Amino acid sequence: MSEIQVNQRLRKITEEIVEAITPVLLNNNVAREELMMGAAWLAKLELPLFVGLNLLYFEGPVVDNQYKGQPGTEAFVQGPYYVADPVALQKPYRMPMRDDEPGTPLLFKARFVDVNGKAITGARMDLWQAGNDGTYSNFNANAPGGNLRAVMQADDAGEITVATVRPAPYEAVHEGPIYDFIHLIGYHAWRPAHLHLTLNAEGFQPLTTQLFFKGDRILEGIGDGVVGEIKDDLIMDVQSVENSEVASTYGLPARHEVAEFTFVMRAA
Ligand code: DHB
Ligand code: FE
Repeated sequence: MSEIQVNQRLRKITEEIVEAITPVLLNNNVAREELMMGAAWLAKLELPLFVGLNLLYFEGPVVDNQYKGQPGTEAFVQGPYYVADPVALQKPYRMPMRDDEPGTPLLFKARFVDVNGKAITGARMDLWQAGNDGTYSNFNANAPGGNLRAVMQADDAGEITVATVRPAPYEAVHEGPIYDFIHLIGYHAWRPAHLHLTLNAEGFQPLTTQLFFKGDRILEGIGDGVVGEIKDDLIMDVQSVENSEVASTYGLPARHEVAEFTFVMRAA
């Protein structure tokens, strides 16, 4: 009757998920009434948030597993707030932001090298981040569409310098059924401040990752409650500097923060 072609891989994975969950229910003597309560709870969730959060609990281990043992900068989850085809910046690079964008001005310096340390020229960096209130443009009405999202290109030295503001830690959910559930099981939904990046360069594997800031209050406090442990390799030092020459080039105040990171890309 159906003309749909059976997908054997999807069938195998589905069956194995059911096989993995069933013993958990049986070992805990879950009653039918409890199972129905669980189902009713799932039906209450706002679907995108549910899908977003739950994919994330699995996205971390899936990404770790996909790239384990490989050299180069560690991959990290993309998260739910990527928007394709952001504006392409012209030099000097400055993220799209409001004239009075709140937050500490930040100069982010990226370098791109191969696994032997040789500079990669022309890498494209897609950068997106929360603002100083911990929310993302296009998902929160406070910020203009496209705010703090852009793509830019490395120079002949394999470098990108871009002006932005320092993102703030982010609470993934503030209220509602998921919030209640997370707190009912003694978890929390804070994420340390971070930059999101996807890098593409000719002859190299694309890399999606996140960078964190040493000294961040969530990073050094309660830790990431959504994705899991943040490995040291993705944590940047941040310096506060006074530099009026750089400042005037990039439209920053003389006093600003600088964070640097060298990305080691894997050959395709
Ligand atoms: C979530 C939010 C993020 O900004 C992120 O990078 C990863 C996950 C979340 O809401 O689950
Ligand atoms: Fe994020």
